[in-house]
Amino acid sequence: THQWRGLIEEYRDRLPVTAATPVVTLLEGGTPLVPAQVLSERTGCDVFLKVEGANPTGSFKDRGMTMAISRAKEEGAQAVICASTGNTSASAAAYAVRARMVCAVLVPQGKIALGKMSQALIHGAKILQVDGNFDDCLELARALSDKYPVALVNSVNPVRIEGQKTAAFEIVDALGDAPDIHVLPVGNAGNITAYWKGYREYAADGISSRNPRMWGFQAAGSAPIVNGAPVRNPQTIATAIRIGNPASWQFAEEARDESGGLIEAVTDRQILVAYRLLAAQEGVFVEPASAASVAGLLKAAEEGKVDPGQRIVCTVTGNGLKDPGWAVDGAPQPVIVPVDAHAAAERLGLA
Ligand code: F0G
Repeated sequence: THQWRGLIEEYRDRLPVTAATPVVTLLEGGTPLVPAQVLSERTGCDVFLKVEGANPTGSFKDRGMTMAISRAKEEGAQAVICASTGNTSASAAAYAVRARMVCAVLVPQGKIALGKMSQALIHGAKILQVDGNFDDCLELARALSDKYPVALVNSVNPVRIEGQKTAAFEIVDALGDAPDIHVLPVGNAGNITAYWKGYREYAADGISSRNPRMWGFQAAGSAPIVNGAPVRNPQTIATAIRIGNPASWQFAEEARDESGGLIEAVTDRQILVAYRLLAAQEGVFVEPASAASVAGLLKAAEEGKVDPGQRIVCTVTGNGLKDPGWAVDGAPQPVIVPVDAHAAAERLGLA
């Protein structure tokens, strides 16, 4: 058979696992790299979308989680914990089920999307809503894992980064070489760190001939790396990246500087424009935070920073169904019609 075997089996020789590691998997990875027609026309480039919402729990977090939970299982952990803006907790909850482990999640009170909360609930995680933001949740999760028998599965766990770097491998495997530019949303900054590691490994082994420039985009109200200082009270509609003091801050700056890239901010308005464009013109429904990558590309293009003819990959990190409120918001109510073909045809402009 030719079924994708999950990223640990597909990239086993490039991951810190041994024959003794129990592989906990939902067959994550192997996600589509979709040519983006409208974005390509707008920029004069060949733009692709790495659609990470196609992972089993609907976000890229599954790549890190298959590694983190497998290794925690190997080390005998019976419980795992994470802080999350929603996607990490959804993923940890699902993979903990597969591993028969207890999962505890700490989320910022009232600031996680309903779809993500529903995942943690239905997978049976122990959920604490913390009276604080993501940064407070992470501090608490670290303290708990230091003092109690519970393994931390946030991206400060280096094994998470190892799993997430496989997305870069998949892109090079699909395109035959690294792109010129790779664009990502940045929150806690684990993912930009992971892609940069993946690209460098492939280049070092001669599988690719070069490295891309890494372009990261934060939400303007939550842009500590851009501002050069932590944001005490981060704000953005893109709750997934509502983070004021990213754990992998330094690694993100290294990815930017070593690759000749950039990390900039996009406004919530720019995020929503890109969110709607992706759905309405590319047929790809992502959550708002994911659209920050595309918003950043469009902003850079408008500023004349995108030379035509380049190959560009934008990672869209999470599925639109996680946080559908922004799709419904402001949209007209569908009209009600009787069970009558002529009346329906009239309303559709067909008659
Ligand atoms: N996009 C989505 C959909 C996310 O959920 C996250 C992070 C990011 C982008 C940013 O990635 O943190 O590696 O820079 N979500 C984390 C969570 C914080 O808890 O689910 P990053």
